[in-house]
Amino acid sequence: MAEKIADLGVVGLGTMGAMLALNFAEKGSEVALFNRTPGKAEKLAAENPELAERLHPQTSIEGFVASLRSPRVIVLMVNAGTAVDEQLEVLAPLLDKGDIVIDAGNTDFNDTVVRNRRWDNHGFHFVGMGVSGGELGARHGPSIMVGGDQRVWSRLKPLLEPISAKYDGSPCVAWLGPDGAGHFVKTIHNGIEYADMQMIAEIYSIMRDGMKLSASQMADIFRDWNERGLSSYLIEISATVLAEPDSKSGKPLVDVIVDEAGQKGTGRWSVIEAQKLGIGATTLEAAVSARSLSSLRKERLVTGKIYYDIILTDGAFGADQASVAELEAALETAKIIAYAQGYAIMSAASREYNWDLPLGEIARIWRAGCIIRSVFLKDITQAYETGGEVVNLLQEHSFAKRVSEGQHALRSVVAKAVNAGIPVPALSASLAYFDDYRRERGSANLIQGQRDLFGAHTFRRLDSDGTFHHQWPAV
Ligand SMILES: NC(=O)c1ccc[n+]([C@@H]2O[C@H](COP(=O)([O-])OP(=O)(O)OC[C@H]3O[C@@H](n4cnc5c(N)ncnc54)[C@H](OP(=O)(O)O)[C@@H]3O)[C@@H](O)[C@H]2O)c1
Repeated sequence: MAEKIADLGVVGLGTMGAMLALNFAEKGSEVALFNRTPGKAEKLAAENPELAERLHPQTSIEGFVASLRSPRVIVLMVNAGTAVDEQLEVLAPLLDKGDIVIDAGNTDFNDTVVRNRRWDNHGFHFVGMGVSGGELGARHGPSIMVGGDQRVWSRLKPLLEPISAKYDGSPCVAWLGPDGAGHFVKTIHNGIEYADMQMIAEIYSIMRDGMKLSASQMADIFRDWNERGLSSYLIEISATVLAEPDSKSGKPLVDVIVDEAGQKGTGRWSVIEAQKLGIGATTLEAAVSARSLSSLRKERLVTGKIYYDIILTDGAFGADQASVAELEAALETAKIIAYAQGYAIMSAASREYNWDLPLGEIARIWRAGCIIRSVFLKDITQAYETGGEVVNLLQEHSFAKRVSEGQHALRSVVAKAVNAGIPVPALSASLAYFDDYRRERGSANLIQGQRDLFGAHTFRRLDSDGTFHHQWPAV
């Protein structure tokens, strides 16, 4: 029998698994390594001689399990879906009660809930864990969203805190709730990430097509914005991307990149889950749809020729300092509205699944390590942790003040973009969400009338309790 040498083990040494394993070893854990394709574990240890002492490659899954101290902790970093199920089936007969298997991939939280039901306390604890920050985050400090049985947290905390990102010394990892809570929060993180990226791209599009600014001028503007309220990883990397030259064409690299955005699915899941919960998350929806539309480049090239004669107001946007400041205020405001939607989805899920999600804590662990890290998240933590109950961030007084002030800029930017024919689906979705959410008398009364007419669906009245059906005239 192999000597029990490792504090934990990593299965799946692809991009993320390899980086996580190195991160664990660097922070002092003894790490067992196993990968389906032979040779990867040994290679990882050989390529990292400074950490090799704490890396323990294993050639069989049996040897891997036997090398772990009890209760064992195993991190699966394999592709989401059947790969996770296959590994769980292989591991199950080798594990003891109390052992912990963590699925750290980008798994659909619905699958995590099912796996929790199947495995948790039936031989081992199953933990669904969201990891954000990409390859660099995994290597040097990701933001980590842990779900599953809370009793397991005391065993995982000392292993995960050292490898997580730190914000002002505070680790960006937390247990967020039972079963699928960790993977759900990661999904919403990605939905917000899509919205954030889309709105930045729309502002870029206004600066490029409406203001005729060069890539390097835009890079300077984003760098400047990164010093204030919008300061965030995504604004920072936008400046970096815009400033990068292309040695082949001599142009800015951004100008030769094909305008089709890829997606792997988690942004789409956030919108699907929002719809299932009955929550309108219009900015997130617009961002996902915009990526899909972007991928129809061939069709867009044809359509562009059909509508070539549409003449739009040129010069709707000035390129002076005041116009740039208006864009900044518009983006900041739309961002608050988008985050309010993401948080509304999490609030609804928390109620629906009895998770009691710590919403302030979630913003806290997103402040470093993850893709949407920004200074703005501390205000969300503060809103959830210092005031009373926050039904929606747009009702919280400090955000309400900011949105009241910034909505003029957002309105003006959206209106000008519409007139100039520059699509701003996420910015305008934010504005429409805000306008719909703030008005005391909406328009759904007409919809209720229509529904009652054609389907006897009934309606409620403003002046009496109960539900009513009206005998509408025949149409
Ligand atoms: N890349 C990112 O930025 C990022 C960020 C956050 C989360 N994630 C998530 O992390 C997970 C891993 O991503 P990655 O980028 O590291 O993927 P990757 O580089 O493609 O590596 C996949 C790993 O899974 C293993 N694997 C695949 N199918 C398997 C199976 N049926 N049985 C056993 N092992 C199997 C592969 O083993 P072989 O070597 O044998 O093929 C490989 O070690 C995914 O869920 C991904 O969505 C990725």
